[in-house]
Amino acid sequence: MRHFVTFLTQRPNILNLDSLPLYFEEQAHMNHTQEPLDESRQGEALVLPSENPSGKKLYLESYGCQMNFSDSEIVASLLAEKGFSTTRNLYESDVILLNTCAIRENAEQRVRTRLRELQHLKKGKPSLVVGVLGCMAERLKDKFLEEEKLVDLVAGPDAYRALPDLITEVETGQKAVNVILSLEETYADVSPVRLTGNGISAFISIMRGCDNMCSFCVVPFTRGRERSRDPESILKEARDLFEAGYREVTLLGQNVDSYLFYGGGPKKEFKALSPEEQAHAVNFAKLLRKVAEIDPQLRIRFTTSNPGDMTDEVLQAMADYSNICKYIHLPVQSGSSSVLDRMNRGYTREQYLDRISAIRKYMPDCAISTDIIAGFCGETEEEHQDTLTLMQQVGYDYAYMFEYSERPKTLAARKFKDDVPAELKNRRLKEIIALQTEWSKKRNEEELGKVVEVLVEGLSKKSDQELFGRTSQYKVVVFPKHNFKAGDYVQVKIHSCTSATLIGTPIDSME
Ligand code: 5AD
Ligand code: SF4
Repeated sequence: MRHFVTFLTQRPNILNLDSLPLYFEEQAHMNHTQEPLDESRQGEALVLPSENPSGKKLYLESYGCQMNFSDSEIVASLLAEKGFSTTRNLYESDVILLNTCAIRENAEQRVRTRLRELQHLKKGKPSLVVGVLGCMAERLKDKFLEEEKLVDLVAGPDAYRALPDLITEVETGQKAVNVILSLEETYADVSPVRLTGNGISAFISIMRGCDNMCSFCVVPFTRGRERSRDPESILKEARDLFEAGYREVTLLGQNVDSYLFYGGGPKKEFKALSPEEQAHAVNFAKLLRKVAEIDPQLRIRFTTSNPGDMTDEVLQAMADYSNICKYIHLPVQSGSSSVLDRMNRGYTREQYLDRISAIRKYMPDCAISTDIIAGFCGETEEEHQDTLTLMQQVGYDYAYMFEYSERPKTLAARKFKDDVPAELKNRRLKEIIALQTEWSKKRNEEELGKVVEVLVEGLSKKSDQELFGRTSQYKVVVFPKHNFKAGDYVQVKIHSCTSATLIGTPIDSME
């Protein structure tokens, strides 16, 4: 089970939604790049704004994190070049692609269920091509194609350029698979089509893969080695978005703090670069500054940060630019140093708390969120209590909370027993959620009476007389519409709140 406690009930009607922590899954899907989307978008068809009525019709559904949704935009772009158009109507589609997630067992379960539903459709229309993309591809390639016979095509996260050929192969009567993971592919030259969205806020993928090897995590196996994308292509994408009217970009990576571009290729430590490479290398702090320089009206967010890699240089860059949002998603996973060691996280409780102090020193107004796993292998009652006391010490604004779920191939699956009984995991998760709910409320109440700057994302879901947007700290604010519109920055005085939303009045309309 995954739970997300925050104050947000209003979610922009876009593909990228949740944006920050990249993971959503279980509900209709899951999107990790961790933030994801509005949960309600999981598993929903993603469509291009303009359709090409003459081409073959593609039905594209995404599960998992924001990274996956962002990848779907790359897939749509690559297939649109080959004349495909997108559709929301399953029954008129020629090709159905599910972009899948493998982060937890239930994320996979929902995709299997969906594939079985699609099998019925295929019985009535044998020419239909059904494909699996993304994180389940590698592990399940043989199963899907041979054992379960649920799909015709499997393409891993680095194989999307091959999709047109793979689809042709299937049309000539073969099954098609490409799950090769690359050391170089960043799709830097593909400009993603924005499949849906509010036209205000978009995601930009800045790196792919992960080299961290946290013992619970399947991502290094599904998405391969870490590589950073050319900063020039990132800047171009951000500039183009700004010119098209977007006012917020979220830079996406599994571990943005280890972003380092030195000319292309797999990750290298700065120290391992030649003097010439060092002179031209761009790290995450430098990248942030460059994106922030595009225009003061363009807000910058990023996710996900890593406690072991987050430097003061990054915090200084955030503090220096008012358009870099004061919000950091810093997954802790556990408050116990012994559990963190078994998780292979590379930091202790004390080192994590040192990073929290550094954030507060550079940016006293910075909101902080986290990810927590309840019931990891061998977790004792005392270790669980350590998580609760750490939560008390930090006072997170939001948190994404999960029960541990063993994933094949991971270090934990090989080394440890998944030995915390289900009821105990569940009880611990409930305690974690209850504490976070208190903190989320407390953090919201601290905003009462303040004037906050809100970037308007659209109409509130509840009333067309109200707008909603977010503060720099990622809090959702609802206020009367007056003459404001999406993309405006509005100063709003907060007069009340629910557990999920701040409610206020624009100050230029107050007496
Ligand atoms: N079980 C439970 N939660 C997990 N996460 C990653 N792998 C697992 C797993 N095997 C959680 C972590 C991570 C978030 C994206 O998902 O908290 O930060
Ligand atoms: Fe995203 Fe893949 Fe991780 Fe799921 S397993 S959260 S889709 S990177």
